[in-house]
Amino acid sequence: MPRVVLVTGASSGIGAATARRFAEMSRTELVLVARREARLEALSREIGGATVIAADLTAPEAPSRIAAVVEQRHGRLDVLVNDAGAGWGGRFAEAGWANVAQTMDLNFNAQVRLTEALLPLLRRSAPSSIVNVSSTAGRVARAGVGAYSASKFALCGWTDALR
Ligand SMILES: NC(=O)c1ccc[n+]([C@@H]2O[C@H](COP(=O)([O-])OP(=O)(O)OC[C@H]3O[C@@H](n4cnc5c(N)ncnc54)[C@H](OP(=O)(O)O)[C@@H]3O)[C@@H](O)[C@H]2O)c1
Repeated sequence: MPRVVLVTGASSGIGAATARRFAEMSRTELVLVARREARLEALSREIGGATVIAADLTAPEAPSRIAAVVEQRHGRLDVLVNDAGAGWGGRFAEAGWANVAQTMDLNFNAQVRLTEALLPLLRRSAPSSIVNVSSTAGRVARAGVGAYSASKFALCGWTDALR
C-alpha cells in the first residue's frame, strides 16, 4: 500500500523542497496544501502527480475540508508535515496584539487545528508521523520578532508534549 504524505506550505520554499524529496521515494503519494493553487498544480506536474488542495489554513473550514479530501481520495495518511508559516516583524509597541494574533493564527493555531482534524486518519494509518516545522526562533528569542518567536516557541512546546 502506498505511503500518503501531506505537506502544507508546498507552494514554495521548504515545503516545496520537502514534497520534491518525498516524491523521489518509491510508493509515495503526495497531498500538497497552500493558497496558491497554480504553484501547487505546477509542482504536481513536475513530480508526476499529486492531490492538490488550495486552502487558507487560517480559514475556519479548512481543516475539515482537507481531512475530507484526504479521506475520500487516499483513505489513509502516513505523514503530516505542518510547514506553512510566516513572520511579520515589528516591535510590540508598534505592531501590537494584532501582529501577535495574526502570527499565532498561522504558525500555531492552524497547525493544531489541522493536526486535530487529521488525527483519526493518522491513528488509523499507524505507525504514522507528524512533522512540525518550527525555527531556531522557537528556542531563542530576539528583539523585533517577538510574535514570530512566540508562535514558534508555542509550536515547539506543543510538539515536545505530543511526542
Ligand atoms: N526560511 C527560513 O530560513 C526558515 C527558518 C526557520 C523556520 N522556517 C519555517 O519554515 C516554514 C517554511 O518557510 P519558508 O522559508 O519555506 O517560507 P515560504 O517560502 O514563504 O513558504 C511558506 C509557505 O506557507 C504557505 N502559507 C502561508 N500562509 C498560508 C496560509 N494562510 N494558508 C496556507 N498556506 C500558507 C505559503 O503558501 P501560499 O502563499 O501559496 O499560501 C508557502 O507555501 C515556515 O513555517 C517558517 O517559519 C523557515
